Amino acid sequence: MHRSSFCTKFLKRKLSSSSISSSKPIPNETIGAKKRIFSGIQPTGSLHIGNYFGAVRRWKELQDEGEDVIFSVVDLHSITLRQEPKELSRNILNCTASLLASGINAEKCILFLQSSVSRHAELSWVLACLATMPRLGHLPQYKEKSVSMKEIPLGLFIYPVLQSADIMLYKATHVPVGEDQLQHIQLAQHLGNTFNARYGHTFPPIKAMVEESGVARLRSLRNPEKKMSKSDPDPKSRISLVDEPKVIVEKCKKAITDFTSEVTYDPEGRRGVATLIDLVSLCTGKPPHQVCSENSDIDTGKFKLRVADVLIETLKPIREEYNRLVKDPSHIKSVLDNGAERAHSIADKTWSEVRKKVGITLQK
Ligand code: TYM
Repeated sequence: MHRSSFCTKFLKRKLSSSSISSSKPIPNETIGAKKRIFSGIQPTGSLHIGNYFGAVRRWKELQDEGEDVIFSVVDLHSITLRQEPKELSRNILNCTASLLASGINAEKCILFLQSSVSRHAELSWVLACLATMPRLGHLPQYKEKSVSMKEIPLGLFIYPVLQSADIMLYKATHVPVGEDQLQHIQLAQHLGNTFNARYGHTFPPIKAMVEESGVARLRSLRNPEKKMSKSDPDPKSRISLVDEPKVIVEKCKKAITDFTSEVTYDPEGRRGVATLIDLVSLCTGKPPHQVCSENSDIDTGKFKLRVADVLIETLKPIREEYNRLVKDPSHIKSVLDNGAERAHSIADKTWSEVRKKVGITLQK
């Protein structure tokens, strides 16, 4: 199936917007802010289908709808956990190539590398002076990642403050993300309110845009109690966007299901099988109950092979484009350099305004 026809299938699916200041979406005219979309992705390991269906596919749609969109490969976030420098550098390239292969078009959006715009780190410091330790310590991702650590890096603790700076530097109003990022977006909203209350109105309200179906949190294939994650040490827990067909078949065969052989959709009781049904549903645009009725004649073992077929077909154009793009690192570098220049000019304006309001500049 061609990628564009694949994507149009999803234009009408449900999305929810959430804002900490109100449970109802705030119409833009009431807040007087220009609608701008920002989101980011860490260049750790290759992008998986959770990243794609939970976030990147939506990024592409917003870009194609002509929205004002800015996307960042957030390398400063990735070093909050130890990275091998050569591998990180390679992953930045691969992550950018995966985004471009997924349809992110640098002519319709700003796509840049976070560390190329130093204002992220600078605004992050100002916001860190407004954030409190108890609030950061309660964030679920921090708790999850730090629980087994003997010595917790400070960067891991203040990571969500840098994420707030990413969003606020561009005065973004909407942030398309998977469900795991909701609390971080709420922190950004809170820090925006705190800054505005102390220094005068500067930042607009921020809304998270999260998919409503199971895709907002696609589960690991090896442990359906956990989300699919780039940092999971078991590569069989996730399908990478650029996995070769035989690897996809192997991973689907090894996906954890249960002792019931029928293909039925029960996202709470049968999480492993439900994840496989969600994958077919996402790839074909068919609702889960239709996927079940179309596969009522086979058991979950055979269904895994059908899931693999659908994934192979869906990911084929992305994998092929990716393989073409990674052969040309200088093109990828020029895309990011160009994006950084455009991001810089927006970020500079916000930073000058912040400096003036906070008083960290000489008065003329
Ligand atoms: P990251 O790199 O972990 O993930 C990138 C995007 O993919 C979504 N996602 C998922 N969605 C559904 N199911 C899953 N299993 C799944 N795994 C990941 C994430 O929710 C995310 O939208 N902190 C962020 C990056 C970031 C950012 C930002 C995002 C930095 N600054 C500013 C938005 C705005 C992160 O680690 O995403």
